[in-house]
Amino acid sequence: MHICRPVRKRVHRHNMRAQPQAGGRNKLRAAAGHCTVQFMTVVLNIAAAGGRPALWVRPWLATDMPDLLAAMASEYPERGLWSHPDLDVPGQQKWTGPRNEEEAAVWLSGQERGWEGGDWLTFAVLDAPENRVVGHVGLKNRDGGQLGIGERGEIGFWTAADARGRGIAPAAARAVTEWAFTSFGAEGLPSIMLVHDVDNPASCRVAAKSGYPFHELSPANPPHWFTDGHIHLAKAM
Ligand SMILES: CC(C)(COP(=O)(O)OP(=O)(O)OC[C@H]1O[C@@H](n2cnc3c(N)ncnc32)[C@H](O)[C@@H]1OP(=O)(O)O)[C@@H](O)C(=O)NCCC(=O)NCCS
Repeated sequence: MHICRPVRKRVHRHNMRAQPQAGGRNKLRAAAGHCTVQFMTVVLNIAAAGGRPALWVRPWLATDMPDLLAAMASEYPERGLWSHPDLDVPGQQKWTGPRNEEEAAVWLSGQERGWEGGDWLTFAVLDAPENRVVGHVGLKNRDGGQLGIGERGEIGFWTAADARGRGIAPAAARAVTEWAFTSFGAEGLPSIMLVHDVDNPASCRVAAKSGYPFHELSPANPPHWFTDGHIHLAKAM
């Protein structure tokens, strides 16, 4: 998922732990008793609507990498796709999409690490009839650390250039949001923010269409970020 704006860094809290299971699946459990969620089995099915095809939203797989590399070759994201913050890669690569098979393997390992640790939950968005990757949605704890421990989440998204304008990002973001609130509960995940630069009106439209009303302005804060932004906020029921 696209990194919209930088996060504040702080010491991670590890209230949840990954429990490896048969078949490579992982169960994350909130030690505080917030929730128990089977993460690696998540598949969200979204029915077709209007001009948008039916979508599958699920964790990234190695078989998705050719589609992702093709999308990156077509239009490289200015600020990249979300990648795990602890990835052992230099500089900008941490924040950008993969450009070759080697980078794709590193990038994918970061997504898997995020699911195992429960601190970086990213999804491939597939055009179901074509079985082709058309987008990305990611969810993380805004302040770093694991999701579901009572702190605010942050969502981000990206749609491949040739798939834009069909409502894919709003549908996928809405589905992930509903899944997260249902999975973690209001106590574990009270709210999720969506942040974008003011000069990104397409993201503002995605926010409006996916259930993230405008919350407040996020002023520029150089050298961390240089433009004003909007903070949109979805709250758990
Ligand atoms: C922002 C983005 C995720 C929207 O995804 P999407 O699946 O095209 O979403 P939508 O189809 O709902 O389009 C949203 C808005 O994009 C604009 N748009 C429409 N067609 C478009 C096209 N072909 N190309 C670019 N933008 C288009 C419109 O303003 C649209 O709003 P509208 O429905 O009110 O007309 C996508 O443009 C993108 O990936 N941009 C680059 C990365 C990025 O900015 N990520 C978000 C960071 S906060």
